[in-house]
Amino acid sequence: SYFRNMRLGAMTACALIIGGVAAHAETVRFAHVDGEGDLLANTYWTYTEVFSSSLAAQTGGKYEVQVFPNGQMGDLESLAEQNVRGSLQMVGGLNAGHLAAYAPVASVLELPYSFPSTAVAREVLNGPFGQKLSDLVAEQSGVRILAYLPSAFRNFSSSTKLIKSPADMKGMKMRTQQVPIHVAMVEALGASPTPIAWAELYSALQTGVVDGQENAPYTMLMANLQEVQKYYTLDHHLINMPLITVNEDYWKALPDEDKRAFKAAADEAAFAMLGVIAAKESQDLAVIRKAGVEIYQPTPEEFQQFVDAARGPVAKILAETTGQEIIDELTAAVAAA
Ligand code: MLT
Repeated sequence: SYFRNMRLGAMTACALIIGGVAAHAETVRFAHVDGEGDLLANTYWTYTEVFSSSLAAQTGGKYEVQVFPNGQMGDLESLAEQNVRGSLQMVGGLNAGHLAAYAPVASVLELPYSFPSTAVAREVLNGPFGQKLSDLVAEQSGVRILAYLPSAFRNFSSSTKLIKSPADMKGMKMRTQQVPIHVAMVEALGASPTPIAWAELYSALQTGVVDGQENAPYTMLMANLQEVQKYYTLDHHLINMPLITVNEDYWKALPDEDKRAFKAAADEAAFAMLGVIAAKESQDLAVIRKAGVEIYQPTPEEFQQFVDAARGPVAKILAETTGQEIIDELTAAVAAA
């Protein structure tokens, strides 16, 4: 594409301004671990395409985004470190867990049943709460959240019983990731949390070592879990929320009008990417249903029972890491949305 060719041409980072015209563009190094070229499969490709062209259009080509896809700059842990150090100006795909190593407050995004829908999540995270969390994370870590990508909810599935409310989870053996806050959540809901590695999950479900698990629809399909599960309850307990981040020193040195261009480009790209993800999710749910899995949407009353059972106990544990204030602010922002 036109912009890709411009990107390839911008091999060095120099911002030589001659008579008000950008003679050479400034390079913005942006890394992610996703592939490129397939609109549905490679959502970070969608992101960087829209971000690059929007930024170029708004700034008259002052910046060239140099994209490093496919994990060529390392895995997400390593990208986080390079973003903090500043050798990468931007990274796509870190989540709260990666940032929590540098900014404990980021863990507030791991509070279960915070958002009843992706629409509410977008509203809260694009508003004053998201702005404040971004400022706090920048202070603590040296990396600023430029865009939140509330992508897909994690939901419970099971092979033994349809879960309509927490009462149905009593005694159920539920696989979790090896994440203490997830273990606490499943415990609070009344099931027995069993941490099992992702690679062993399919056979653990097949042989009945555990009754159920929790993941987003696309993740279930990645491992064909629909083959070994009978029920899937859209309880929306956690949201997979990758982030677009920018090094804070780099950000602070940008002129104000360029900051506005970066932010507008980041939001435009998020809008495009989340649209693709939403369309894909409805396809994914259809595939899961077609495989014979019963998909259940809890009523508002049932959803409230999940919230009541899990949120308080988990918030108490989480507050030891994040402090109580940010949890209260999230709760208030969601209530107002
Ligand atoms: C897991 O449940 O282990 C993860 O959600 C798997 C993944 O994200 O690929």
